[in-house]
Amino acid sequence: MIAIDGPAGAGKSTIARLLADRLGLEYLDTGAMYRAITSEALHTGVAVDSTELVARIAETAVLRVDRDSVVVNGRDVTSDIRSSAVTAAVSAVAANPAVRAAMGSHQRRWGLEHGGGVLEGRDIGTVIFPDAALKVFLTASPRVRAQRRVAEVGGDVAQMEASIAERDHRDSSRETSPLAEADDSVVIDTSDMTLDEVVELIASLFAERTT
Ligand code: CDP
Repeated sequence: MIAIDGPAGAGKSTIARLLADRLGLEYLDTGAMYRAITSEALHTGVAVDSTELVARIAETAVLRVDRDSVVVNGRDVTSDIRSSAVTAAVSAVAANPAVRAAMGSHQRRWGLEHGGGVLEGRDIGTVIFPDAALKVFLTASPRVRAQRRVAEVGGDVAQMEASIAERDHRDSSRETSPLAEADDSVVIDTSDMTLDEVVELIASLFAERTT
């Protein structure tokens, strides 16, 4: 099990995928799960701050998160989960303790069924798999993270930096499983590193711990 946590735009998804391919492990994007529940709330007209209604959605949703697609209650939300509406609302949904409990059970079951894998998110090393063989906290300067996100989805760098900062603040200051480094996680600042360098570094750390 490799846990990769960190703030928005640090490169977690890309790096987790490359790493999983390289090591022949399965990969789970846990942010996509919170995004799917948010998409479902917006789709069904439930306000994201209606704690109980959103909890009900999370507890009853039939959720399928594969490498290349996300389906919730039979609806393909692969594109919708990346929309600005979902991005703006997801932190409120992810702060809901009942939503976190439901997603946490999915994630632990996924880990058991696959016998390990690469999971990326915000609380994987701290809460979901505290015994992971390797825990990585990926970060990068706010400006670099905003530039990377703009390269993916377009927009203005300064505005993106502000919206990422706001989401990071909400994710780090919530009561239930906030975004945080685990005591024993390896912090990697990817600001001045290429993807290959980061993947190489994590793969060698993993090899050190498992051989
Ligand atoms: O890719 P990006 O960094 O934009 O975010 P993401 O990984 O798709 O996660 C979207 C949101 O889901 C985060 O801003 C958190 O609010 C929430 N999240 C979480 O609370 N716990 C996780 N394990 C993963 C995501």
